[in-house]
Amino acid sequence: MPDKGPFYITTPIYYVNDKPHIGHTYTTVACDVLARFKRLDGYEVMFLTGTDEHGLKVMQAAEAAGVDPQALTDKVSQNFRDLTLLMNYSNDDFIRTTEERHKKAAQVLWQKIDAAGDLYQDNYGGWYAVRDEAYYTEDELTSSPDGKKIAPSGAECEWVEEESYFFKLSKWQDRLLEFYDKNPDFVAPQTRYNEVKSFVKGGLKDLSLSRTKFDWGVKVPGDDKHVMYVWIDALTNYMTAVGYPDEESESFKKFWPADIHMVGKDILRFHAVYWPAFLMSAGLEVPKKIFAHGWWTIEGEKMSKSLGNVIAPHDLVKRYGVDAARYFMLREVPFGNDGDFSHQAAINRINADLANGIGNLAQRTLSMIYKNCDEQIPQPNELDSVDMKLLLNSKENMLTVVRNNLDELKIHSALEEIIKIVSVADGYVDAQAPWTLRKEDPERMKTVLYVLAEVIRCLGIIMQPITPASADKLLDQLKVPKDERNFEHIDEKYALKPGTKIDKPEGVFPRIVEEEERGVGT
Ligand code: MSP
Repeated sequence: MPDKGPFYITTPIYYVNDKPHIGHTYTTVACDVLARFKRLDGYEVMFLTGTDEHGLKVMQAAEAAGVDPQALTDKVSQNFRDLTLLMNYSNDDFIRTTEERHKKAAQVLWQKIDAAGDLYQDNYGGWYAVRDEAYYTEDELTSSPDGKKIAPSGAECEWVEEESYFFKLSKWQDRLLEFYDKNPDFVAPQTRYNEVKSFVKGGLKDLSLSRTKFDWGVKVPGDDKHVMYVWIDALTNYMTAVGYPDEESESFKKFWPADIHMVGKDILRFHAVYWPAFLMSAGLEVPKKIFAHGWWTIEGEKMSKSLGNVIAPHDLVKRYGVDAARYFMLREVPFGNDGDFSHQAAINRINADLANGIGNLAQRTLSMIYKNCDEQIPQPNELDSVDMKLLLNSKENMLTVVRNNLDELKIHSALEEIIKIVSVADGYVDAQAPWTLRKEDPERMKTVLYVLAEVIRCLGIIMQPITPASADKLLDQLKVPKDERNFEHIDEKYALKPGTKIDKPEGVFPRIVEEEERGVGT
């Protein structure tokens, strides 16, 4: 396989105060698709996810549950880890911030920042939202009818006063602006880049970087009374997993700086402002790109426990199957925008694109081959220009368009392009009418079915990152060797061999039956 070099992609690490929901699944599925795509495209991939286990929010959740924080984090972290199996993630590591390797990394980063002269001790007095684990200035807040201070995210704030170490964030303002100007792709989409720039232009205040009122965190080196602010601890995870603090280790040299930190729009400031400032202060390289995706609402409402509309990944998988659920989340909404989840939209999309689209094309073609070509891949005759055009579009052309879209993180457009090929192939089936050719021109029928089988092989290969198990099943049915399923194998050289026996075809993407059809409900 060609070695195109390393590619390092990360998800945010998830707070362990609560159960996983589809918002969390969304970020990780998106990263999984990109990681799988890059692997098949010849990159050496490192794909990281994990859990963020320190801080007040987790500590309070443990108190509310009447268990100690370590017990809570062990349990909830495992729930997130179990998603790997459920959602078919291909992450290469799973990091927990309570691991020793991580605590050490966070402490060394702290010491580097300290040695650079960027820390000082003072008293902090200000507003803090535990839900966001974020500090806010007075002018960012609004008041609720009962006089509580509310952050822009809707989280309630409390007044905090304590002794703290501060990070000289203000000192980094100009260098950050210079960095954004030189790296216009650092934050995407463009609107988010503009948001970050205008936030920094508006002026940066020094950041309180430690807490003394509780102890569920990484200890500040040399001052046990303080634990680190949970965000400097959490952000460091991206380096821990590739070997930090050993900057000379093979993996750190290979994978740092990360290619993409994928985050939700709510945590952009931490990644695009604080994180590069910490790294610059410590003399480390800054990640290449931060991509902020949008948020899901559920049938028009914010997802929340109190509304009882939280969708658990397990429910989604139970209802649609893992591959269809993965596909739907990424196809439905332009990646970067907010989106609304509804079961009707999921059913429509899955049935149109997968069941009636790729699934039907494959099932029709393979059944005709099985029945009319002696259960084997037929021998094609000379290809005409229509055949050649379809093949060309399903091979290098499709790969190039999909690759370009994914490089720009237009995941939805990449999927749209794949489905376009399915429609073109459907049009070809209708125009060629192989069922008529069976009697009138059986030799031409064989050519048409061969061309279609080749298109399906290419579709199977390119769908692997999105719907891994179904794509594998499709490729298995066509008897495509396991070691000929990378993108380089889309090439003509690896085309299906006439005479290869195929199994009796089985549907790969089932149609979702609506509840009324199943007789559920009224
Ligand atoms: N622990 C921090 C991240 C630290 S990264 C160094 C955190 N955790 S979180 O569990 O609250 O959120 C993790 C991710 O889930 C965020 O990117 C957030 O945007 C995403 N989502 C949470 N709810 C969501 C939706 N309703 N929709 C889409 N994504 C959402 O923040």
